[in-house]
Amino acid sequence: MSTLADWSGVAGLDTPTRYRQMAETELRGVSPTYERLCLGIAEDAEIIALLDTLPAVKRQPNLLLGAARILDAPLEDDAAFRAWVIAHWPELSTEMLARRTQTNEPGRLATLIPALAQLPPPLALVEVGASAGLCLFPDRYGYRYETDADMVVIDAEPEFPCRVTGPAPLPAAPPHVTWRAGLDLHPLDVTSAEDVRWLQALVWPEQTERAARLTAAVEVVRRDPPRVVAGDLRTDLDALVAEAPSDATVVVFHTAVLAYLSREDRAAFADHMRAGIDIGRWHWVSNEGPSVFAHTEHLDRDRSGFVLSVDLGPLAYSAPHGSWLEWFGG
Ligand SMILES: C[S@@+](CC[C@H](N)C(=O)[O-])C[C@H]1O[C@@H](n2cnc3c(N)ncnc32)[C@H](O)[C@@H]1O
Repeated sequence: MSTLADWSGVAGLDTPTRYRQMAETELRGVSPTYERLCLGIAEDAEIIALLDTLPAVKRQPNLLLGAARILDAPLEDDAAFRAWVIAHWPELSTEMLARRTQTNEPGRLATLIPALAQLPPPLALVEVGASAGLCLFPDRYGYRYETDADMVVIDAEPEFPCRVTGPAPLPAAPPHVTWRAGLDLHPLDVTSAEDVRWLQALVWPEQTERAARLTAAVEVVRRDPPRVVAGDLRTDLDALVAEAPSDATVVVFHTAVLAYLSREDRAAFADHMRAGIDIGRWHWVSNEGPSVFAHTEHLDRDRSGFVLSVDLGPLAYSAPHGSWLEWFGG
C-alpha cells in the first residue's frame, strides 16, 4: 500500500508547473494575492530549489501559503515575500513538514445536499478524510440556492450560497441525520484554538466571507463536536461503518480527499465501495476531481472543480468550495 507521500494527483508535475497551474486554474479571479505569489514562485529558481528539498506532498502551494500566513509573512509585496521565504526557510519548512493541507470547507455541503436528498432518511453519515468534521453537519447550516428561475433557501446560519444550473433536485429542508462519524489520518479538533487557526490560515486571503462562514460553522459544531476517528480510509472504514445504527441509511462520503491516494489505492477503494453497495451495506457519495475515479474519467477534466456522484453515477460538476453546482444527472 502506498503512502500519502505519493499524492499522485499531482506527483507527476514538477514544482514550477504545480505553482503555475494552481495560479491559472484555481486562484485566477478568486485570490489575486495568491495567484501573484504562485506565479512568482513558479519563476523563482531559488525558492523552487528550496521547495524541492521537501517530499513531493509537502511542496503544495496551499501548504506553503498557509504556513507562511501562520508565520505572518508579508503577502502584499512580491519582493518582500520572496526575501521573507528565503530568510525564514528553516521555520517555514519546519511548519510545512509539521502540517498538512486539511482545508475543511463546509460550503461544499451546498453541493452535496441534493445528492444526500436522494437517499432514504434517516441518514447515518460516515465521512472519510473528514479533517475537523465540519462537513458532517449538513443538517445544521443554511443554504441559498440561486437558479435561473428562483431562489431555494434552507434557513440557518451560517448560510452557504450556491449558484445552480441544470435540473438539480433541490430539497426544501436539510437531510435528517441521526448518526455521524468521521475518519481522518490526522483529525483536527474544532475545540482547539490552534487547529482552528490553521483551518483559517488555509482560507485564501481575499475570501473574507468564506473565512467568516468558517468561523460561524466552527461555532455551530463546537456546541456538539463530532467524532472524528484517527485512521486510514484504506483500512479502517469498515470498523467505523460497523458502529452505525442499523435503522438508518449508511452514507459513506468524501470531498477533496481521494487525490491524496495513489491511482491503485483509489481503484481499490472504488472496488471496495462498489462491493458494499452491491450488498446494501452503504451508499457512496463522492465529490472529487474528474480524473480521480474511472467512472468519472470520461467527463471534462479541464474545468476546476469536482464531479459529484452517488453510487458510481455521476450527477453534477461542483465548485471546489461549493459556490456553484452544474447538474447534468437524473
Ligand atoms: C483537503 S482535506 C478535505 C477535508 C474535508 N473532506 C472537506 O472537504 O472539507 C483532505 C483530508 O483528507 C485526509 N486524508 C488524506 N488521506 C487520507 C487517508 N488515506 N485516510 C483518511 N484521511 C485521509 C487529510 O488528512 C485531510 O484532512
